[in-house]
Amino acid sequence: MRHDHLITSKQLSRADIETVLDRAAEIAADPSAVSDRHAGTLLGLLFFEPSTRTKMSFETAMKRLGGDVVDMGSVESSSVTKGETLADTVRVIEGYADALVLRHPREGAATMASEYVDVPLLNAGDGAGHHPTQTLLDLYTIRENAGLEDLTIGIMGDLKYGRTVHSLAYALTTFDAHQHFISPESLRLPREVVFDLHQHGGAQIREHESLEGILPELDVLYVTRIQRERFPDEAEYQQVAGEYQIDAATLSAAREDLTVMHPLPRVDEIAPDLDETAHAAYFEQAHNGVPVRMALLDLLLQGGEQ
Ligand code: NCD
Repeated sequence: MRHDHLITSKQLSRADIETVLDRAAEIAADPSAVSDRHAGTLLGLLFFEPSTRTKMSFETAMKRLGGDVVDMGSVESSSVTKGETLADTVRVIEGYADALVLRHPREGAATMASEYVDVPLLNAGDGAGHHPTQTLLDLYTIRENAGLEDLTIGIMGDLKYGRTVHSLAYALTTFDAHQHFISPESLRLPREVVFDLHQHGGAQIREHESLEGILPELDVLYVTRIQRERFPDEAEYQQVAGEYQIDAATLSAAREDLTVMHPLPRVDEIAPDLDETAHAAYFEQAHNGVPVRMALLDLLLQGGEQ
């Protein structure tokens, strides 16, 4: 795999994805084998939006490869509050680090920023746009639990603003997965994404307003949070908040081996009574962020080595 920047999952072929997942599996099996592999490497973290998992798992990944991070810290404590542009900020920080990880509230921010830097830039979420590294750990989790061959997946919740959904959907077209999108009418996938998915070869796409009819067919149910912070007004959010919740009883109609995933954080989409069932894979999914991001960093940083 040789990409300078990772902005969207559309960049990734099936072979690219398999390279990362295979490397992640190798690393997960024997993390000590790579513990010094990138000694001296510095990863720059630029998070202009809240993050727990993505930021901490990138930091863990870099440190477990023997490297370290330099972190811009919170927006409030940075020069962004003095009016510095994103283009200037990334141009400065690329001088401190060997690669950059950027999360930003504006869709398209990662593409724009990548045009100003020579070191690899990884998009860790740009508004309602994309979140390709989440997709890689989602695919890893799917592969471990249900397999990626002949997959039938339901993706439910906020399909309009959910960037993890957009990135995952594109990547799943490369595996010819049957994708069922379940949401209220107002939170359907943006029409341009549906159009794009069809262009991308995703012929196996269907949209539903209810989970009930499709649930028994699913291998995986991927639940998402309603992205409150992206709603133009709170009243609109309140109209859909609390819809599409599941609990252990909801899944009585599901296959016994259904895998339930969620990128987290959850609010009330998945009741805690599901956590102890064999369906729940969301904490494992979050943990997979470390070997997957280790694999990705390793492949991006190795340069001409392999
Ligand atoms: C997601 C995000 O930031 O897009 N979180 C994550 O990275 N695991 C999902 C969300 O915030 O709902």
